[in-house]
Amino acid sequence: MPSAFITGITGQDGSYLTELLLAKGYTVHGLVRRSSSLDRGRLDNLEDVSDEARARLHLHYGDLGDSNSLYRLLGELKPDEVYNLASQSHVRVSFDMPEFTTDINATGTVRLLEAIRSAGLGKTTRYYQASSSEMFGKAVETPQRETTRFHPRSPYACAKVFSHYATVNYREAHGMFSCSGILFNHESPRRGENFVTRKVTLAAARIKAGLQEYVTLGNLEARRDWGYAKEYAEVMWRMLQQDSPEDYVIATGECHSVEEWVAEAFAAVDLDWHDYVRFDQRFMRASEVDEVVGDASKAKRDFGWEPQVKFSKLVKLMVEADLKACLTGK
Ligand code: NAP
Ligand code: GDD
Repeated sequence: MPSAFITGITGQDGSYLTELLLAKGYTVHGLVRRSSSLDRGRLDNLEDVSDEARARLHLHYGDLGDSNSLYRLLGELKPDEVYNLASQSHVRVSFDMPEFTTDINATGTVRLLEAIRSAGLGKTTRYYQASSSEMFGKAVETPQRETTRFHPRSPYACAKVFSHYATVNYREAHGMFSCSGILFNHESPRRGENFVTRKVTLAAARIKAGLQEYVTLGNLEARRDWGYAKEYAEVMWRMLQQDSPEDYVIATGECHSVEEWVAEAFAAVDLDWHDYVRFDQRFMRASEVDEVVGDASKAKRDFGWEPQVKFSKLVKLMVEADLKACLTGK
């Protein structure tokens, strides 16, 4: 059976991808960082995974900042597919830690690509890079597609542009099957609690349950193309099953403001958001991405991909999950 190596396996996307690959019969190897807490909630709560499938999941200590661990693991495991999902993924935080963000999100990618080549896997192992719509930043055309010029607006996005082109370069220079998914924002009940969507759905649920009084936010005018993370993880796998390596934009094609997300989330629990939202400058960014919206027609044409879950459905499913957790204490 095939094997996969996933960096960022403990994150939102890593957990969905792990479920998918285990269900397909893969042996899954995940890179995990050493931390003082062993809390790996998303992996502990994988859904619909049998005991037999779980036995095919193996975690290994390492770090995208540590070449030795990557070289050792790739040499030992020789996976058929590598999914590079690890990153310092918070855009606002990247302004506070630009050097660290660049080391992990940019140089880390080259460390991993070189580890694959050093293990003699350059011509056999398929590589997926988690690129981002943040690379379009101050977008030069709407909607954005694979050919749209990048204009990154944060250290996070600059690092992602570097990794995107490194992935293209390893394909062109070394003949590697390496490709990038340029994924627009994707959310789920497993989304980190300091990204705006989850922060808001969690707050709406907690306020409704009497556990919180208000929520503090930054820019409500920014507009994003929000899709469902579970559907986006499936695309990562699909991209590596194509005959040739290609980069794809993955998006819903719908664009909504943060304010619309807030209004929809509070409406889902029968509350008027104006009564519960406060502003704090702390959550503003030195340079903002005002609006991004993607055109995923290439993915539709090449492998029939179309999103099923869009804005309203997504907000509701996240609010419902957070409300259920608040009410049951789980
Ligand atoms: P996430 O939930 O924040 O997960 C990030 C993962 O990276 C975690 O497993 C984290 O481990 C790991 N990580 C961070 N630094 C690392 C390091 N130095 N070495 C090894 N692992 C490290 O992110 P996500 O939402 O699942 O996103 C997955 C990837 O897609 C990221 O690269 C992100 O930038 C990119 N992306 C996301 C979106 C989106 O809307 N979600 C859109 C486009 C692109 P810990 O658990 O130990 O922190
Ligand atoms: N996080 C956060 N917290 N964002 C806020 C807040 C707040 O309190 N208030 C307003 N916002 C605005 C931000 O200024 C931004 O314009 C928008 O909400 C979305 O912010 P995030 O949810 O943090 O997501 P992001 O778009 O910056 O980045 C996410 O999506 C990218 C794909 O485009 C991350 O997952 C990135 O890793 C990913 O690449």
